[in-house]
Amino acid sequence: MPNTTRDTRQILVTSALPYANGAIHLGHLLEYIQTDIWVRFQKSRGHECHYVCADDAHGTAIMLRAEQEGITSEALIERVSREHQQDFATFGVGFDNYHSTHSDENRHFSELIYTRLRDAGHIATRDIEQMYDPVKGLFLADRFIKGTCPKCGAADQYGDNCEACSATYTPAELIDPVSAISGATPEVRSSTHFFFKLPDFADFLKHWIDEEHVQSQIRNKLMEWFEAGLNEWDISRDAPYFGFEIPDAPGKYFYVWLDAPIGYLASFKNLCDREGLDFDAYWKPDSQAEVYHFIGKDIVYFHALFWPAMLHGADFRTPTAVNCHGFVTVNGAKMSKSRGTFIKAATYAEYLNPEYLRYYFAAKLTARLDDLDLNLEDFAARVNADLVGKVVNIASRCAGFVKKLGGGRLSAHCVEPDLVARFIAAGDAIAEDFETREFGRTVRKIMELADEANTYIAEAEPWVLAKQAGRDQEVLDICSVGINLFRQLMVYLAPIVPAMAEQARAFLQLETLDWESRREVLVDHAIAKFKPLMTRVERDKIDAMIEASKEDLVEEQKLKEGAKGPLAEEPLAPQISFDDFAKVDLRIARIATAEYVEGADKLLKLTLDLGGETRTVFAGIRAAYAPEALEGHLTVMVANLAPRKMRFGVSEGMVLAAGSNGGIYLLEPHSGAEPGQRVR
Ligand code: MSP
Ligand code: ZN
Repeated sequence: MPNTTRDTRQILVTSALPYANGAIHLGHLLEYIQTDIWVRFQKSRGHECHYVCADDAHGTAIMLRAEQEGITSEALIERVSREHQQDFATFGVGFDNYHSTHSDENRHFSELIYTRLRDAGHIATRDIEQMYDPVKGLFLADRFIKGTCPKCGAADQYGDNCEACSATYTPAELIDPVSAISGATPEVRSSTHFFFKLPDFADFLKHWIDEEHVQSQIRNKLMEWFEAGLNEWDISRDAPYFGFEIPDAPGKYFYVWLDAPIGYLASFKNLCDREGLDFDAYWKPDSQAEVYHFIGKDIVYFHALFWPAMLHGADFRTPTAVNCHGFVTVNGAKMSKSRGTFIKAATYAEYLNPEYLRYYFAAKLTARLDDLDLNLEDFAARVNADLVGKVVNIASRCAGFVKKLGGGRLSAHCVEPDLVARFIAAGDAIAEDFETREFGRTVRKIMELADEANTYIAEAEPWVLAKQAGRDQEVLDICSVGINLFRQLMVYLAPIVPAMAEQARAFLQLETLDWESRREVLVDHAIAKFKPLMTRVERDKIDAMIEASKEDLVEEQKLKEGAKGPLAEEPLAPQISFDDFAKVDLRIARIATAEYVEGADKLLKLTLDLGGETRTVFAGIRAAYAPEALEGHLTVMVANLAPRKMRFGVSEGMVLAAGSNGGIYLLEPHSGAEPGQRVR
């Protein structure tokens, strides 16, 4: 473990590199905010701390996304990188460098690490069999294969598990598998792959894990993996692939997860070259500097097994610690696009102050792996009660009197030296909680101090004294204490709410709110005019944000379809004759009743009135329509379809609807059509 009491520590910090094919959302932000708070705290303490990140720009998903948008992979990652950096800046995430894994530095280090591992005998090659899309000319990862579940027969299941019955299987077991990219039937093909021999590092890793580089919950997980036995790791992919070609292996590329963590080195190297820092001082095997990776719990395997082994095998130092956090849920459930709780960073920022979120996350963060629930009621209540009600309130109650009675200058002496001294001393315990990432505890301690400050002012009642003759100096003295206490609080809160702290610094007319600066009590010190530092969270802004998030989903779907078009998505069926068509008896129907079907999350049960005859039809339109919105409406049905027995009853026909990923649209004739009329 590093000596964290050293005067000036050299610290390198990273957050996981976000994929370059999607927008930053509130789930991501937990990680970047957690890391940024920790980094700002270290900098406030006067340590040399560098915070680097990059876009994770390689892989099949990015290549296909670019193709879908009709642009090059390079153009896509360029645009997404700009968007990501804009989002991070909006949320006050202050990277010292933001780079890309598609960079010269990363190619250099990927090749270096790979060749060192290879020359030391840690790379193996062998042929493996894999599904191949003969139309696209592409080997298919599991998630790009669709088919019918071999267990329950549900159609349209992805890759290796069934959403309907939760069975797991290999893509080869799927019935009628198709490529999700081209629709072609995949073939099994063989090709040579490169493997990193992770088992070579079993002993090294066992030691490493025992040296407290990971949280205990992670350690337990890793022990399970050890017991199951470590496997060699497939680090190559065949062309076409957006990435780096493996040296001396034409047509073979590094798998995105090989060069992604190396991106940490690349981004730091890029910073070193720009600022004249000593890269090797941080990364040589016996380095005294500290290196921390902040990650989510889904990517532990890569960071706590592959990564230390790769570094060790290639003669670099290993991380001081891998700090892992849990996942964000919203209102108690996984973020959901249809509920509007899959909230993008940019959408949030259109409606709400980013510092609210920083504060709320901090207030709920621990050093453990538990998931963190963003409960929007609690979010509003907490921010309003704490930041606005407690902290800002202290300054706003005192600033007016200081202006009026002291001409904007604080008293020449402090009348509550013990109280102020206690606030200063509290900084040691608060620092300990920041250091160990117990931010929730930090916030509790800071808010206890805020309560104390408010109690002091409430009991001293400067507003009562101000109405009495000859007590102006007392009032100024009390309010000067209040301003001093506020200053202490802002030093402690600065890593969490840096923009608010910056406004407070300007109000207090101080050079800095660094940790040590708090020791100097402010006497006979001029302050600026008070401006409200933060306003209350408004409930209707939260609602508007949720609505806008639902619209984001619609936009996204349109974009997807626009890029490809429904016609390309689903090519026209083979031609039919008029006689074929005439066999289908289409009729106008009135939806007499519509109701939910218990246990079926896609279906509505419709009773259709054909003008004298009624039919029961189960239609897969629940995602798009509420039953009460349908009743009374006209639609078109296939009236001579053979009845089908379904799990929930017999369906006697079909209603016509246009449908794709983007939505479901029931056909409705112009008004005036009559139930029972034939449609041709
Ligand atoms: N590109 C990889 C990381 C490579 S690091 C060498 C990746 N990217 S990601 O965009 O999917 O995720 C980036 C980080 O955000 C990960 O640490 C991930 O755990 C975190 N989160 C993504 N969604 C999250 C939540 N809903 N909640 C909390 N963290 C989440 O993984
Ligand atoms: Zn199934």
